Amino acid sequence: MILIDGKKISQEIRQEIARETELMIQQGARAPHLAAVLVGHDGGSETYVANKVRACAEVGFQSTLIRFEEDVTEKLLLETVEQLNNDPEIDGFIVQLPLPRHINEQKIIEAISPEKDVDGFHPVNVGKLLIGLPCFVSATPSGIMELLRRYHIETSGKHCVVIGRSNIVGKPVSMLMAQKTNPGDATVTLCHSRTRNLKELVSQADIIIAALGSPGFVTGDMVKEGAVVIDVGTTRVPSSETKSGFRLRGDVLFEEVAPKCSYITPVPGGVGPMTIVSLLRNTQLAAKRR
Ligand code: GUN
Repeated sequence: MILIDGKKISQEIRQEIARETELMIQQGARAPHLAAVLVGHDGGSETYVANKVRACAEVGFQSTLIRFEEDVTEKLLLETVEQLNNDPEIDGFIVQLPLPRHINEQKIIEAISPEKDVDGFHPVNVGKLLIGLPCFVSATPSGIMELLRRYHIETSGKHCVVIGRSNIVGKPVSMLMAQKTNPGDATVTLCHSRTRNLKELVSQADIIIAALGSPGFVTGDMVKEGAVVIDVGTTRVPSSETKSGFRLRGDVLFEEVAPKCSYITPVPGGVGPMTIVSLLRNTQLAAKRR
């Protein structure tokens, strides 16, 4: 069994991005600039955004954090998006989700200019992904593909079972795995909460991508000997052993599943660290297109 080390790969990619940034600056361009909009004080969102801002500094990017209180109006948020769309100093930006319930999340996403949508959430980018055109691919699916690429994992003609049909992971990663690319070129089955014979389907998979957000859902008896297992789950569960008072649990029951796998991603340290580098890559791409 080979443990896929997302932490190590993400550090390698950060170094690559930092070198490219230096080169861009040497050639007279300014550093890529990412802006992040954060609404409210949700613990998870605060951490994610802080990590994104820190990652920018590490690779030599500029970053701007724009904060609003929980009661910000949809109108003000839309105006902010419009300002960022038109600001030539900003290459790309994200609006951290989830947003408070009084704000229409889809409306905000659709207001972001597709050229600056480094999260890859805008319907134009999602549509381009579907038909295989160059676009911003959202961070988690793109991180998964990069791990498969860097570990030279054969995917062509393989049966890939994706569990979970979310717009930000399950659906796009299914499309990427089915695309005529390397990695990709797989036969994809997309399972979800209504799938009847889920256990049977998962046990036939050469590659399992678990992205349903249910800790320990994939158990040893569901996994074929030699399967590749990608665990996207990052559910925060209370823990007395950590300083923060919580720990992350994946969708895969690691102790049972790992011994049966050819490759597996741990949680934490697998897919998670890759998501930020995907965002950095997209920002660099946006800056280069400028
Ligand atoms: N909330 C959880 N993940 C993400 C992400 O990748 N981007 C944004 N904008 N919000 C998120």
